[in-house]
Amino acid sequence: MNTRPALSVTQAVRQRISTRGFLDRPIPRADLVDLLETAQRAPSGGNLQPWKTIAVTGAAKDEIIALAARVLSENPMAVIPMERPVYPDFKQVDPVYDQRRRRVGEMMYEKIGIPREDRAGRIAWFAHNYRFFGAPVGLFFIIDTRMGHGQWAHMGMYMQTIALLAEERGWGTCMQECWARLRDELHDHFGLDDHHMIYSGMSLGWPDPDEPANALYAERAPQAEVVEFRGF
Ligand SMILES: Cc1cc2nc3c(=O)[nH]c(=O)nc-3n(C[C@H](O)[C@H](O)[C@H](O)COP(=O)(O)O)c2cc1C
Repeated sequence: MNTRPALSVTQAVRQRISTRGFLDRPIPRADLVDLLETAQRAPSGGNLQPWKTIAVTGAAKDEIIALAARVLSENPMAVIPMERPVYPDFKQVDPVYDQRRRRVGEMMYEKIGIPREDRAGRIAWFAHNYRFFGAPVGLFFIIDTRMGHGQWAHMGMYMQTIALLAEERGWGTCMQECWARLRDELHDHFGLDDHHMIYSGMSLGWPDPDEPANALYAERAPQAEVVEFRGF
């Protein structure tokens, strides 16, 4: 039962961060069912609702962690060629995007105190991703590969809706495209058909207030860099 005071949408948007450390405290199935039912109200062009979700906890989550450990033990940072890469080719786009990506990475490693030279430490930290940062719940978002770019955007709306609803419940989330690295393995593990693929994962649970990574409040570009007002 959620007894927390109501959270405004503005507060939820402002306080949501990527949570990278969770308490060992379960999320009751009924609460997750309720959240996902509400998230189904996310908009999508033509009301296609082009998302499917697999939620894992307990043994089902442990199986995925074990699968990831098996695959990644070979080479934790191997760059896997992907049909749908997580990032653009940074050489082709405005350098500001790569700068932002690097900046948030540096800010995070600064918070957790792992210097650039400690490559092994950074790799070890990154591997927390594949244990859902200790979260009790992992979500996987699946899209039909025949969908176009519009539907991928709508999937994003659905995911952000989940993240904001989680805030309201006092939970934290971390969206995790890192799972794209295991797309093929997860595809087989979940028994998806040929037309479906894992777009992204998401860790969900109670944030650990003592986790230094959770103190990162990632900066954003100044409004003038991204918004143009005309006719006001
Ligand atoms: C679709 C998507 C995938 C992401 N994948 C990862 C991931 O695999 N691992 C991770 O630690 N953070 C991941 N992030 C979190 C971003 O790094 C984060 O949203 C960004 O740095 C801004 O920080 P904030 O979410 O704390 O505001 C992802 C975010 C999105 C939207």
